[in-house]
Amino acid sequence: MEKIRNRIEELRRLIEEYEYHYFVLDSPKISDKEFDRLFRELQELERHHPEFLDPNSPTMRIAPRPHDQVERHVHGSPMLSLENVYSKDELLSFDSRVKRNLGLPQSCKIEYDAELKIDGLAVALTYEKGRLSAGATRGDGLVGEDITANLRTIKTVPLRLRGSEYPDTLEVRGEVYMPLSKFVELNMERPSKGLPIFSSPRNAAAGSLRQKDPRITSQRKLDIFVYGAADPLSLHVQRHSDLLSRLSSLGFKINPHNRVCQGIGEVQNYVSYWDSSRHNLKYQIDGIVVKVNSIQHQLKLGSSFRSPRWATAYKFKEEVAVTRVKDIMVSVGSTGALTPYAVLEPAFVSGARLSLAPLHTEDEIKRKDIRIGDLVLVKRAGEVRPEVIGPVKEARTGDERTFIMPDRCPVCGSPAVRKPGQAIRHCTSPDCPARLFQRIVRFASRPALDIPGLGYKTIGRLMERGLIRDPGDIFSLGPSELVTKAKLGPRQSLSLVRQIERKKHPPLSRFLYGLGIKGVGQHLAQILSNHFHSLDELARIHESD
Ligand code: IVH
Repeated sequence: MEKIRNRIEELRRLIEEYEYHYFVLDSPKISDKEFDRLFRELQELERHHPEFLDPNSPTMRIAPRPHDQVERHVHGSPMLSLENVYSKDELLSFDSRVKRNLGLPQSCKIEYDAELKIDGLAVALTYEKGRLSAGATRGDGLVGEDITANLRTIKTVPLRLRGSEYPDTLEVRGEVYMPLSKFVELNMERPSKGLPIFSSPRNAAAGSLRQKDPRITSQRKLDIFVYGAADPLSLHVQRHSDLLSRLSSLGFKINPHNRVCQGIGEVQNYVSYWDSSRHNLKYQIDGIVVKVNSIQHQLKLGSSFRSPRWATAYKFKEEVAVTRVKDIMVSVGSTGALTPYAVLEPAFVSGARLSLAPLHTEDEIKRKDIRIGDLVLVKRAGEVRPEVIGPVKEARTGDERTFIMPDRCPVCGSPAVRKPGQAIRHCTSPDCPARLFQRIVRFASRPALDIPGLGYKTIGRLMERGLIRDPGDIFSLGPSELVTKAKLGPRQSLSLVRQIERKKHPPLSRFLYGLGIKGVGQHLAQILSNHFHSLDELARIHESD
């Protein structure tokens, strides 16, 4: 009996060791076949000797049954969140606040630990005497949800700590995330099962951790980076970076890109580097976390009730989401320019619903190799227009279609030509309804005449009914024809006519901009109007003037 017990223990240690090398260090020590053989031997022994069962055996990562109810988990100490900064200036203010609060001169350099801010879910893992005893979500910071069974399925979460030097109770904190490749795989199979796709790896990770059945969580291939401990002093370290090294030797997966920086200048370089290189990572990050490295300083700085004063999060401006290109269509602008745009499966990015994104030119589509049916990464930076970053090529099924730029205008059917040396194709018909429509839209738009009642919908209706054909026609509209022919309400008709009436004598710059002459934007229109006080004066000039 003793022999069997020893063999079981030996197998558990070996398997833990090999899993650690395979999953945490990413450098396997033995072949998969060898590993499977050991794993099966352990499973067999445990089956025949249930008296030696141990919930922390590597065979027990996946609980066989779903749990029906989510238990609350009260955190030993609150899980705080971080204050965000959005610019380099705000980062500098954080640095000077730190120095002021520590009573240090502004000229000195603070040592910081700069880390990638992983876009996933914060969790706390508790170890009692070296064994995983609880795992929980952050919740409101004081009380989270007990998700131990689901966290155990993550192969990089140690069930037992390595070595023997650790406090009786150790609570570590980290971010659970879904690697991009797993996210893409998961999204690929969801539509065929009638399930909606996840809009971000973060949502996918959250959904997976909330599963009632750990067997499903285990299939989702989540991962974790550990970034701290509830009580760093219990590990006898002086610096946050030492804490991370200690946690690494206890078996936790620590992000390899964390850097100790001397002074905020080095932090700024780190931020710039990752702002442009982050799309090369195998997981999504949404910013950089900056932490005062000295634990003594951390304690001196303390925390407010929400966040520590010794750390901050620099958030990248743009947010990225994944969605599908349902189609690529072409719009015709006021100058006749044909612009392709992507029709997307709606995605939520930076709080906005994205369903269309400009693709600019046919060459741009070719360069990025965007095809109809592709899963694509889209981004939106603040108020800026959405942009398709590029396709997720690994997700292609072969059913995607290459977009071909039409050689005829999609609205009027006239030839659309691309002159040599030009990037853009133009509709050749001056009477193209799309061009007329866009010209009227521009004429009535806010930077031009600014007629609020005359938007896309109304202009479309007035054109359809033959009431207007070019911008000038709007000045001869009467209320009765708006009611009888365009079927607008009497009140709306009167108000529209009044609004138009009021804009009959617009400032020259607005009028010029509104004409939609190629190359004449708001700025040039202003310059021209400053120069030539009236339209007559402008009309009299020649190229040579
Ligand atoms: S430290 C008290 N480090 O960002 C400081 N957080 O609001 C605790 N996060 O809730 C956070 N990567 O979920 C820290 N390297 C990192 C992180 C990180 C991601 C998340 C974490 C936290 C949120 C900040």
